[in-house]
Amino acid sequence: MRRVRWGLYGLVVLAALGWGVLWLRGGDPLLALRGASSGLAVPAGVSVGGPFALVDTQDRPVTDASFAGRWMLVYFGYTFCPDVCPTELQTISNALDKLGPMAAKVVPVFITVDPERDTPKALADYVKLFDDRLVGLTGTPAQVAAAAKAYRVYYAKVTPKDSSTYLMDHSSFAYLMGPDGKFQALFRQGTTAQEMADAIRAKMAGA
Ligand code: NI
Repeated sequence: MRRVRWGLYGLVVLAALGWGVLWLRGGDPLLALRGASSGLAVPAGVSVGGPFALVDTQDRPVTDASFAGRWMLVYFGYTFCPDVCPTELQTISNALDKLGPMAAKVVPVFITVDPERDTPKALADYVKLFDDRLVGLTGTPAQVAAAAKAYRVYYAKVTPKDSSTYLMDHSSFAYLMGPDGKFQALFRQGTTAQEMADAIRAKMAGA
């Protein structure tokens, strides 16, 4: 247990270092959003989202254009994630339930940051544990890196000491994208399903 605990401390420190590096490079607008709760906007002039080319759980090519005309709720994570990803994906599923019929206009999208292990088949098995509506996307490491970059997602492979398997340290935000593909809102980790549903409903009403 002790080793596990130190491993977790190590992850926290690495995460902090990662964010620090991004911040120093001026590439992390999300730091400015700490403390806010839900339905966040990003600072003016900062773009979030954009073109991506990945494959779905049937190994079919999918791009951002595949979702044109529909809202997207995008989350980056990985199937081996011990805690954060399952919690956030459950929140997304619950938020869609709270949206009722309006949920039909929103596609929840889970993009892996661990393409090495998250094959289309692995993703297919994983996403259906949470929600039949959830679209799992993976790709080559380069394709995933490009998608993550567009969404300003930080991720890095971390191997705890004395462990034979690695974890992926990653930022955890859900992104609401409009039918035109433009960024609409950002939900930080810990946002409740109700807050998320309310913010999505408000955005849809205003669009
Ligand atoms: Ni995770």
